[in-house]
Amino acid sequence: MLKVRQVSKVYEGKVSYRALSDINLTVEDSEFVGIMGPSGSGKTTLLNMIATIDEPTTGEILINGKDPNRLKKEKLAQFRRRELGFVFQDFNLLHTLTVEENMVLPLTLDGSKVSEMKKKAKEIAEKLGITEIMNKRTYEISGGQAQRAAVARAMIHTPKLLLADEPTGNLDSKSSKDVMEMLEAINEKEKTTMLLVTHDPQAASYCNRVVFIRDGKFYSEIHRGNNRQAFFQKIIDTLSLMGGDSNDFSSVRI
Ligand SMILES: Nc1ncnc2c1ncn2[C@@H]1O[C@H](COP(=O)(O)OP(=O)(O)O)[C@@H](O)[C@H]1O
Ligand SMILES: [Mg+2]
Repeated sequence: MLKVRQVSKVYEGKVSYRALSDINLTVEDSEFVGIMGPSGSGKTTLLNMIATIDEPTTGEILINGKDPNRLKKEKLAQFRRRELGFVFQDFNLLHTLTVEENMVLPLTLDGSKVSEMKKKAKEIAEKLGITEIMNKRTYEISGGQAQRAAVARAMIHTPKLLLADEPTGNLDSKSSKDVMEMLEAINEKEKTTMLLVTHDPQAASYCNRVVFIRDGKFYSEIHRGNNRQAFFQKIIDTLSLMGGDSNDFSSVRI
């Protein structure tokens, strides 16, 4: 599904800054992979390159065997819209629109028929359990509901790869759990491949595997097995071994 090969990223500026060095990562179809590391370790940089928002300085990224960065601008936009789904920390919903209108935005861009869009939105909402908030505006719903609406929007094209950057970063622990359970259910039922950047060990414990990076370099990886609680403990242990920003631990929730 995804191959990251010897990828490095240098941000050029007055002083150039090496944000990532020689990262290798292979993600299989329908895997759910977490990426963790202290603030500034390069997690968002890596995700943005996979998201085709940014390009590696060296190395290559293949999604289903193709290098999206070789596509022309229009094809790239289409690829991004059809094959990838995105979820961000701040939900990125449009505030003047209802939840349903937000959900169908990607279809609007593709010129789908209104009746088709309504049907699709209804299906997804039922699947994801957000039917009751479809007609609400974004200021009338909670953070957890907003993030579930954002996930629904990301899923409306049934993307093959869902990319999430700190999706629980602005949520309380109950809402985080709801959002993670929703992502887990999508991963299991739809077989959507998922990549989750997070500094929340509880959220990461829903993944099949967690990859740790520190100072832009691969640090280690651990696999879940069948016990989420034990995996959670292993994640905490690895984070404390690798050290880093103490703020990263303030959000630990059991
Ligand atoms: N556009 C940019 N220009 C220059 N430096 C950047 C840019 N984006 C990120 N960085 C730097 O690269 C490093 C990694 O950032 P980032 O990937 O956002 O880390 P993380 O998501 O793990 O907190 C940080 O030191 C950050 O300051
Ligand atoms: Mg980040």
